[in-house]
Amino acid sequence: MIRASSIRVLFALFVRAGLLQAAQDDDILIAGFEGRDYGAWKTTGEAFGPGPAHGTLPNQMDVSGYEGEGLVNSFYKGDGTTGTLTSPPLKIQRRFVNFLIGGGMHPGKTCINLLVDGKVVRTATGPNDRPGGSERLDWHTWDTSELVGRQAVIQIVDQQTGGWGHINIDQIVQSSRRLQQEIVTGPLYRETYRPQFHFTPATNWTNDPNGLVYYEGEYHLFFQHNPKGINWGNMTWGHAVSRDLVHWEQLPNAIEPDRLGTIFSGSAVVDWNNTAGFQKGPEKPIVAIYTSAGGTSPDSKGQPFTQSIAYSLDRGRTWTKYEKNPVLAHIVGSNRDPKVVWHQPTKQWIMTLFKDGNAFGFFSSPDLKRWTHLHDITVSGCGECPDFFEMPVDGNPAETKWVWTAANGHYLVGAFDGKRFVPETGPHRADWGANYYAVQTYSDIPASDGRRIQIAWMNGGKYPKMPFNQQMSFPCELKLRRTPEGLRICRLPVREIERLHAKEYSWADRVVQPGENLLAGVQGELFDICAEIEVGPAADVGPAVPAATPPLSPSGRGAGGEGIPTEAKHVSLILRGEPLTYSVTDKRLTCLGRAATLAPVGGRIKLQVLLDRTSIEVFGNDGCVSMTSCFLPRADTKPLALQTTGGPVKIVSLKVYELRSAWGK
Ligand code: FRU
Repeated sequence: MIRASSIRVLFALFVRAGLLQAAQDDDILIAGFEGRDYGAWKTTGEAFGPGPAHGTLPNQMDVSGYEGEGLVNSFYKGDGTTGTLTSPPLKIQRRFVNFLIGGGMHPGKTCINLLVDGKVVRTATGPNDRPGGSERLDWHTWDTSELVGRQAVIQIVDQQTGGWGHINIDQIVQSSRRLQQEIVTGPLYRETYRPQFHFTPATNWTNDPNGLVYYEGEYHLFFQHNPKGINWGNMTWGHAVSRDLVHWEQLPNAIEPDRLGTIFSGSAVVDWNNTAGFQKGPEKPIVAIYTSAGGTSPDSKGQPFTQSIAYSLDRGRTWTKYEKNPVLAHIVGSNRDPKVVWHQPTKQWIMTLFKDGNAFGFFSSPDLKRWTHLHDITVSGCGECPDFFEMPVDGNPAETKWVWTAANGHYLVGAFDGKRFVPETGPHRADWGANYYAVQTYSDIPASDGRRIQIAWMNGGKYPKMPFNQQMSFPCELKLRRTPEGLRICRLPVREIERLHAKEYSWADRVVQPGENLLAGVQGELFDICAEIEVGPAADVGPAVPAATPPLSPSGRGAGGEGIPTEAKHVSLILRGEPLTYSVTDKRLTCLGRAATLAPVGGRIKLQVLLDRTSIEVFGNDGCVSMTSCFLPRADTKPLALQTTGGPVKIVSLKVYELRSAWGK
């Protein structure tokens, strides 16, 4: 065993890298697996190879989260190999044994065991997939208080072949403190993995945002909700309202399952002209158009999927279903997700509906009750939750296009005359992150505001032990820009994020050298980060968006200065231990296992990053590239770091805003 003094050097490296909090003085390192071989540890079988692996092995997904250079990785020659790796006898001397673990979740088969007197007294497996980096290692802690003074052996086991038939281990440390995240499950909105400025229901499951509509100062967010469970089921429209898209108040559920089915996704509109005839008093009706998912509940047995409407005459507080539902009969398969928009030139409602496979329909109606089929489109790679809206090009109201999006955010841009949508370009991808789905934009944003605001379900996030499941993305404003490649959608967080800005840190015209960490002094957990970085001479400029192009100086370099040598190869923002890296050479942005091309403009890139407890949203070059992803933060990480490797970079400007929680009173 090596005393902490020797591992402090290693830890110091990571502390400098901004990844870890300082090690404690009395920590005892059992094994860091930094040698060429396993030293006194003994192997059986083949799975553990001749010595520690240096990261990812051939044909393995990206292994991250280990410390130093080496780790135990039993993926040696793939999942088919098996074996054990056993420590020499050691004495338990501290209250806790901590280690980093990743890989397969097969109890007894892919695990690490603590043996006392030859008996397994503690065991742990990997998690299989980990959100935001499948093969990422994270801390696990054994409380060994009652074993202090006893002799023990640690055995790492891989007796599993096939999927996730391997185990990854690193940094086994005896300590007086626990390094594993302690999960707090209350009070409400204060839980360990509760997003602090992204909408989540108080309890239970959510998926798609539904019925996004603005009326009388309130943004309504209805959402696919299971009021009875933590997983998908019993689909009901949950309901929340906000006056600023940042602070949400959850209201009673709006639309409940009935004999036609559970309530699947759809949209909502304000019926300003009372076309449906529901209005009784001064309040304009809000009308929800949703799918009655027949056959998904005992009450609706034998019913097909149809489209129905419900209305509210009290600002969305109570809802009445139309007595002659459904308004659109079953067409095919599980046709669903009606999105309705008012088409002013022809004074009618237009619906786009998911039919089946990659097929979507367009329909028109004078009154939201009687619908006429217009035509269908087939869009490769797209299914579910369509949206359809008109947008000005480069903000010019005299030049507009119609944008059609699918659940995955892929979009078409084209023309619409009230009868036929003619796509001119697309499908294009809107987001390169891992958790961006079921996108929908707001209806009835006043013309004086004029924004097109989109919310996505951040599908697939993990929230262990939390009372809720899944979260929405932060609302983003969409812009349609003319770029050298054609018309493209750009997305940026709505400006209301400023309402949460607390402490501000700011830098300008600052060269960052390799080994330096500009953000070492930043405290906090939640951030809005805005950066403009000079990554190389303007000669590096690739295809880019003109609106983001700063003027070039006569030297041909970025307007901000003398340019930075091209040896600057990578610049990374490290967000709670997760690197967001820009490769200058490849012009690629990577974060949480996903990558997107981001060409510098005038030798510079612009980044905005929203960091919440369980999500990272990245926006490059004024939102021309966005990456929406979930993750689970490690407990031991520092909030932020900014580093460069391969040469210096120049920070033209950097503003880091610590954010308040939106749930704060
Ligand atoms: C998309 C989706 C929709 C459907 C809803 C059901 O995530 O599958 O097509 O209406 O979820 O919850």
